[in-house]
Amino acid sequence: MQKNYLIAGGSSGIGLALVKRLVEQGNQVTVISRTDEKLAGLPHVVHLQKDVLTDEIMESELPEMLHGLAYCPGSINLKPFRSLKPEQFLEDFNINVLGAVKVLQAAHKALKKTGQSSVVLFSTVAVAQGMPFHASIAAAKGGVEGLTRSLAAEWAPNVRVNCIAPSLTDTPMAERLLSTPEKREASAQRHPLKQVGTPENLAALACFLLSDESSWMSGQVIGMDGGMSSLRV
Ligand SMILES: NC(=O)c1ccc[n+]([C@@H]2O[C@H](COP(=O)([O-])OP(=O)(O)OC[C@H]3O[C@@H](n4cnc5c(N)ncnc54)[C@H](OP(=O)(O)O)[C@@H]3O)[C@@H](O)[C@H]2O)c1
Repeated sequence: MQKNYLIAGGSSGIGLALVKRLVEQGNQVTVISRTDEKLAGLPHVVHLQKDVLTDEIMESELPEMLHGLAYCPGSINLKPFRSLKPEQFLEDFNINVLGAVKVLQAAHKALKKTGQSSVVLFSTVAVAQGMPFHASIAAAKGGVEGLTRSLAAEWAPNVRVNCIAPSLTDTPMAERLLSTPEKREASAQRHPLKQVGTPENLAALACFLLSDESSWMSGQVIGMDGGMSSLRV
């Protein structure tokens, strides 16, 4: 059966890999993002050009029925705590939490209409595992994890809500951290599984969480992080 999905931030990185998987499976996907170059030529994709920080997202612009939604915009602003300004905490909160809230509020009616739908949000390994220079992003993503559990309770049993907490993944967002072979190798070696993540690794998990195969899971934060959050090797 062809299903309808809404992927905010589906024009790059993990979101784009997820969009590709969903259309390969024959689904219809609506993508919200500011740009659409990397979506060129993909079948069954409708692009809504929007900045989630500044544009209104109207219920009427979205498909009438949604089987799933993923919210992928985010940030990696790593700085020593002493040099972080309140505005930077707010910026991280806005893109990671309030952007998701805006999209979820606009999509709730369509998600409810299908009777069984699924939402995927993105946190970071830096919530479960304390890391230097991550104060602002960890605070914002901690908010995403709280939002995940609250909404999972409020929207049960018809809408499931889960969250993925990745470690460093090879996407445009992480470009600066992986810009030389030395940085890439050092980042891989920091992980128990000796690799950084790929967008496809994360998209596979997101796809599972959006599908009926995970129909008995809600309110979970799942680490996909090369073993970073739980292994010492
Ligand atoms: N990559 C990592 O190492 C890593 C690690 C931990 C957690 N994460 C989390 O995983 C999620 C996906 O990250 P990613 O690495 O795939 O990032 P990415 O490659 O930078 O993709 C982010 C997506 O969000 C969209 N976006 C950003 N700001 C937007 C805005 N204001 N309005 C509308 N769309 C916006 C971008 O599209 P446009 O630019 O076209 O608008 C793009 O499609 C994020 O929540 C991130 O925090 C990533």
